[in-house]
Amino acid sequence: MVVESVSQDVARLELEKIPQHVAIIMDGNGRWAQERGLSRQAGHRAGTENIRRVIETFARYEVPVLTLFAFSTENWSRPRGEVNHLIRLIGRYIDRELKALHENGVRFRHLGRLDPLSPALRRRVEDAVELTKNNDRITVNVAFNYGGRQEILDAVRRIVEDGVPPERIDEELFSSYLYTAGLPDGDLVIRTAGEMRLSNFLLWQCYYAEYYVTPVYWPDFGTEEIEQALLAYSQRQRRFGGVVDEEGTRRNHRRGRGPTP
Ligand code: FPP
Repeated sequence: MVVESVSQDVARLELEKIPQHVAIIMDGNGRWAQERGLSRQAGHRAGTENIRRVIETFARYEVPVLTLFAFSTENWSRPRGEVNHLIRLIGRYIDRELKALHENGVRFRHLGRLDPLSPALRRRVEDAVELTKNNDRITVNVAFNYGGRQEILDAVRRIVEDGVPPERIDEELFSSYLYTAGLPDGDLVIRTAGEMRLSNFLLWQCYYAEYYVTPVYWPDFGTEEIEQALLAYSQRQRRFGGVVDEEGTRRNHRRGRGPTP
């Protein structure tokens, strides 16, 4: 795929492969704010402001699924004021952005457990999911109160509750019990702000994802950064544990996968 670059720095971006699912750990709001003498809350507000342009840029590059890690099950251990602020932000984000998301063909989904949220906030999230469920330009999953291990445990509990016989449990069935049911596995995980950590994010889905870490803080992660990440992904050779022969064809006997797309 050759795409006219959205930014001015790269005139034409030659992308051999477009990831089908990009998952982002949006890190560095606090450090962004600290460097400017601002509060951490101001950093999270700036991070939220950034989300619109990020969604739009990935949609223009025809990435069909984008997952944004907004609040982890471990984030409850942050100071009470910061936790409350992050919870309020998700509500405000929906109030402010839902109309534009819907008009721009975004299917909004939530990954995680909604039960600790107030009934009113839960309803806002569920209404946003319902309103946008038939949009098909890009699916945006907001992982809020999300943990990869908890997701796997939730899936196991539901499989047991459904009385699924052990011999029917395979990777496909298991995936259909995850919050991401029906969506492709993660191809590319991007982490901003430099740290090399998975942080309990999409543990099952990103089992063979490519990783891209940038030192740029989340509020500054813009179009040019996205293009760099897509370019890096496009140049990676994915073998899924197999080998690549002289013609560049991926061989993976166990899975019987065809040539690298
Ligand atoms: C990590 O930065 C970021 C978070 C824990 C929250 C990310 C949240 C947003 C971008 C806004 C909320 C999102 C929505 C969809 C409303 P950090 O605070 O850990 O930064 P630091 O490591 O520099 O301290």
